[in-house]
Formats: sequence, structure tokens, C-alpha cells
Amino acid sequence: MNKVAVLSGDGIGPEVMAEALKVLDVIAKKYNHTFEFKEGYVGGIAYDKTGLPLPEETIQLCENSNAVLFGSVGGPKWENLPPEKQPERGALLPLRKHFNLFANLRPVKIFPSLSHASSLKQELVKDGIDIIFFRELTGGIYFGQPKKIAEDGKSAVDTMAYKEEEIKRIAVKAFEAARLRNKKVCSVDKANVLMTSILWRKIVTELHEKEYSDIELSHMFVDNAAMQLVRWPAQFDVILTENMFGDILSDEAAMLSGSLGMLPSASINESGFGLYEPIGGSAPDIAGQGIANPIAQILSAALMLRYSFKLDTEAKAIEHAVADTLSANIRTRDIAGESKGVKIVSTSEMGNEIISRIK
Ligand code: IPM
Ligand code: MN
Repeated sequence: MNKVAVLSGDGIGPEVMAEALKVLDVIAKKYNHTFEFKEGYVGGIAYDKTGLPLPEETIQLCENSNAVLFGSVGGPKWENLPPEKQPERGALLPLRKHFNLFANLRPVKIFPSLSHASSLKQELVKDGIDIIFFRELTGGIYFGQPKKIAEDGKSAVDTMAYKEEEIKRIAVKAFEAARLRNKKVCSVDKANVLMTSILWRKIVTELHEKEYSDIELSHMFVDNAAMQLVRWPAQFDVILTENMFGDILSDEAAMLSGSLGMLPSASINESGFGLYEPIGGSAPDIAGQGIANPIAQILSAALMLRYSFKLDTEAKAIEHAVADTLSANIRTRDIAGESKGVKIVSTSEMGNEIISRIK
């Protein structure tokens, strides 16, 4: 049995999650699987109900599940709480750490039918973009100690730290993925300034020489990578990078596809347990209006099927249904663009359109 902890969270989380669950129900029926969904509180809503953004009950629920389908957390209502009670810092980061979800996969694909929504010129994206980020997720400056504001409030410190093992295990994932794709890895660092990056580059290079010399490996400084992503994004296949660089670059890359509402992510550990979430935020400004784009959440469910449940055919069925829906010119508002002939639909109508195309 595939047990899923469903943590919808705040903002548009619950409305887009509803569509992902509808899609999974249809997959379960068509392909004869049983998915057991159990809901838990996380983020601002958890704080409102229990006083904590990540209650013990929710951790237990995840412990007893085979995967976590996560919506999004945060919103203006909780912005002024003390840091450890804030939805992002108090829920998402501890969840990642608790379950050792060191590998964050962020595929950035431009559907040809949506290339007009890209913020880049057509000629740069019209042939499609297919990049996948392997972002290290449980180390680096997000977690290194010391991390504090001095008592006098006049200075603060964050620490960027990496161990050999932490670099190696994410690099292995990136090289393995590249083998099944175009066999290119670009490792992004700041080795002209940071000690952690010098170590990063050394470990990645050694691993490449020893075990992955069939893969084309390049190294790029992060500032250059930021530029190259908008100059010529088609040059990239797999991008391997540390936690904060990956955070920033993946948002940048997401805009190549025109909307943050399109992109899913998978955060997985060594045992195949994973947390699956859209990379966009909780979008409180449009929450509750039925206009949010559920595609990122639905594609996150597809990644869950692929990586945690090893149901690749079913994952592809969802991905094809999404692509077919877009080819049929069906759009939520965020990706409507100016082109004529598109049909603008609500969040739940988008879910239904995708479901009707699942083969
Ligand atoms: C992301 C988010 C998180 C991060 C925040 C909400 C802590 O931006 O998943 O990219 O920085 O990792
Ligand atoms: Mn981010």
C-alpha cells in the first residue's frame, strides 16, 4: 500500500492539492492501485491550530507514510512571528532535515505550446528547454552553525559548511540522472571565493574521474551560471549545485517557463522516501479565488509516483495529460498570455481537463 501524508499548508496549497488528489484517484482506478491519503497540518494553519508550524503529530504522520505530498506554507499573517514559529523556517526546513532529504530535484521544462509565456525571447526557448537541477538540500548556509544574531543586535552570522560525504551523495545522484539523459553535468560553485566551493569542485571532479568519465562535466561560477541561464538556457542538461545557489538559480530558471505555477520538485533521501512540492510559494494574493494553477502540484504528484513508488508509467500518464491539456490551449490565468484562441479555466476545471486526458 502506498501511504501518502498530505500536507496542503497555506495560501493556494489546499486548492491546488485538491486537484492533485483528484488526479491520483483517477490513476489509482485506471491502474489498479491503492493510495491511502492522510491529511496533516503544516505551516501557518498548523500554527493557528496548535501553536507550532510543524506539530509532532504531523511528523508522526510523515514517519508512518511512504511519501509526503506537500502544498506550500507561509503568508503575511505569520510573517511577524519569531523565526522558529514562522511557516518556512519552522516547518519546511526541519522537515527536510528530519527526513534527511538531501537531494532536491527540480526539473525545468518548457512546453513548446507555452514558449510564448517565457520571459525570454522566442528564439532562445522555442526549441524547448529541458534542465534538471540537483540541489543539495540539507547542508550549506541554510543549516551551518553558528547561525545567530548577536545579543546587542548589531551583528549576525550564518555559516556555510560542507562535508565530503554531503557533496558526494548529491553528485552521485546528478551523475546517475545524467546517464539517463543527455550525459551532461554542469556543477555550479563559487570556487574563486568560497572554501566550501573549492572542496565541492575537488570532490565532484574526483568522483567524475573515478566513476563517471562517460559524462561530460563542466564547472561554472554561480554568477556566470545566473547569466548563462538567461543567455542560452539550452546549453544545460543537469545542473548540480549547493543549497543556496540552487535555491536562487532554480527560481530564475523557473521563469524561463513563464510561470512558477508550472514546476514541481522532489526532495528525496537515500531510502527513497520523499517530499514532493511545487517550487512556487503559497501565493496568498490569489488564494481562495479558484484561479491558481494546479499544474505544479499535479506534476509533483507525478514525481512522487516515479521516485517514491516506482510507478513510472503512471507518472508519465500524468505528464502526458498535462502536456496534452496545454497543447489543447487550455490555460489558467497565469499562463494565458496574449494569444487568441486560448480557453481560460479555473483551478478545478484545469484539474478536470487534465484528468480527461489521462490514458
Ligand atoms: C524553496 C523555498 C525554501 C528554500 C524556503 C521557503 C525556505 O524557497 O523550496 O526553494 O529556500 O529552500
Ligand atoms: Mn526557493
